[in-house]
Amino acid sequence: MNYIVQQKKFDVLVAGELNIDLILDRLDQFPVIGKEIMAGEMIYTLGSSSAIFASNLSTLGGSVNYCGCIGNDNFGDKILNDLAVKNVNTSNIIRSKTSGTGITVAFNFEQDRAMVTYPGAMNELEQNHITDDMLKQAQHLHVSSIFLQHGLKPGLIDLFKRGKQFGLTTSLDPQWDPAEKWDCDWKNLLPYVDVFLPNIEELKNIAQKTNFADAVNALRNSANLIVAKNSTEGATAYYKNEIVEQAAFINHDFVDAIGAGDSFNAGFISRFIQKKSLKECAELGAVCGAINTTQKGGTTAFTDLNTVRKIAKEKFNYTLQ
Ligand SMILES: Nc1ncnc2c1ncn2[C@@H]1O[C@H](COP(=O)(O)OP(=O)(O)OP(=O)(O)O)[C@@H](O)[C@H]1O
Ligand SMILES: [Mg+2]
Repeated sequence: MNYIVQQKKFDVLVAGELNIDLILDRLDQFPVIGKEIMAGEMIYTLGSSSAIFASNLSTLGGSVNYCGCIGNDNFGDKILNDLAVKNVNTSNIIRSKTSGTGITVAFNFEQDRAMVTYPGAMNELEQNHITDDMLKQAQHLHVSSIFLQHGLKPGLIDLFKRGKQFGLTTSLDPQWDPAEKWDCDWKNLLPYVDVFLPNIEELKNIAQKTNFADAVNALRNSANLIVAKNSTEGATAYYKNEIVEQAAFINHDFVDAIGAGDSFNAGFISRFIQKKSLKECAELGAVCGAINTTQKGGTTAFTDLNTVRKIAKEKFNYTLQ
């Protein structure tokens, strides 16, 4: 990919949560209190929206720095290794002395799923861990999953403000609020966010509207660019008076949609930092979202750039430069 000659050390700084996903598949039955059941498959993988974004953006050719918090344990070692294998800079990842690495255990049974999350060190990341030097070294700041990051959320406005002061462009994917309170000072945060990347359900909850159009209108006063993701319906981008509709690419080899939104974000931001048009950003976002769904989990299809190019061409007739 043809990246502009860099003056900054990194294209993107990701400040975010880090956790392991342990997925137990093909269960005999749904877990029952007091009983032991068997799983037919176990997947042990890098989880977290921010890490999937960082890893896939790096595969697409962006240089990525990561600031997050993990425990001093084997799960933490795996996270560092998996990010390093994808060329993400891990030297600013903090190892907690008091908490273990966050983990989500997912129990999949037929179409149902139960998940248990231990946030651990994820809660310990605070905005003052993201130093001025880290911000100055990057062209763009990305944050995701704010409702899972209880240490970071109170300082979010300050973090984005500092990012803007140092001349960075910024993006935010709020992700779902497990408490369903959607509590954040959106009016004062969104002006500092250049690209806001919720899905449509998140957008409606944040705007406190049941209707999608009302939700977009409510946030347009404070937000800059809104990109509302809508699964197989694609995504719609709103910027000033411009509206760009992006259809999803039809995937005939669907496996699962874990991380599709994060891969969409990676594709979108990889073009945004190259100052490409809104249409080009949205198109690569949708291609990457679709590529994500051709294999298990969020990073499997993004092993390297040639593999991504091949899937893009063969399955979606898209030529990735
Ligand atoms: N089954 C699919 N087939 C093709 N493309 C898909 C599919 N699912 C998602 N995508 C693409 O990925 C984009 C993002 O997916 P989605 O709308 O599910 O985001 P999200 O809700 O943020 O996901 P996540 O659960 O990862 O946070 C969609 O806009 C679409 O372009
Ligand atoms: Mg999402």
